[in-house]
Amino acid sequence: MTEWKEFQDTGIAAAREAGRVLQEWSKKFTISEKSRKNLVTEADVNAQDAIFRIIHDKYPDHSFLGEEDLAVENADSDFRWIIDPLDGTTNYVHQFPYYCVSIALEYQGELTVGVIFDPTRDELFTAVRGEGASLNGEPINTSNADQLYDAMCVASLPVGGTGDEPQVKQFLNVFPKARSVQRTGSAALNLSYVACGRLDAYWSGTLKPWDQAAGVVIVREAGGQVTAIGGADFDVQVADMLASNDVPVHKELIDALKLD
Ligand code: IPD
Ligand code: CA
Ligand code: CA
Repeated sequence: MTEWKEFQDTGIAAAREAGRVLQEWSKKFTISEKSRKNLVTEADVNAQDAIFRIIHDKYPDHSFLGEEDLAVENADSDFRWIIDPLDGTTNYVHQFPYYCVSIALEYQGELTVGVIFDPTRDELFTAVRGEGASLNGEPINTSNADQLYDAMCVASLPVGGTGDEPQVKQFLNVFPKARSVQRTGSAALNLSYVACGRLDAYWSGTLKPWDQAAGVVIVREAGGQVTAIGGADFDVQVADMLASNDVPVHKELIDALKLD
């Protein structure tokens, strides 16, 4: 539908501009802690300002939710943009090139458009519900791994954690069963990588809506599975997400992630 393309193109323009802002700030930012080990820089804030300006100029009546204190609620609007201007701030701060811009559009509570831009590699992952997913304009699909033993997985652990969290136990439970379990520092890029088959699965019990909204649309449109970690329906408002390439690996992971 033309209208979705217009929304998607606006999200893409905003993500590319935010990516430009991130690269511009990459050598001159200062670091603050929002909470223990939870970092923020001028790049996060300026990139979000750029995104908001571009989208809000075009759609002034829409609602917005962004990580850097952005909450614009219009009860009359069916549309809500969910924005993470810099997913992977710790990586960004250390110049570890695995971070991105993540923008999703929700329509009537349904995740509908996803845009994720990696400015380091100039890779743009995007999808519209029901229309497939792409990477730099080429269609993408999840991998065909059909058992956990062959799967390259990635997990998030709590930021500023103590090591006693259930997520650490889950990580260790899957570790001997999968080919590999990685931890990379960008939820949105992890989801993009599941979508294009570079990773086979990703789970997290600690994400916020802006970390997961866009990536979930892209994984689903690439043919992947997304549920809560126990297999229930996924809810973007809830920190409980398991994404995978397809049903067999997904089922094995639901079992492996069970805590006694
Ligand atoms: C973080 C990253 C990380 C995840 C954290 C998020 P941020 O986002 O997505 O992979 O484990 O829970 O907070 O803070 O870099 O935008
Ligand atoms: Ca994030
Ligand atoms: Ca962020």
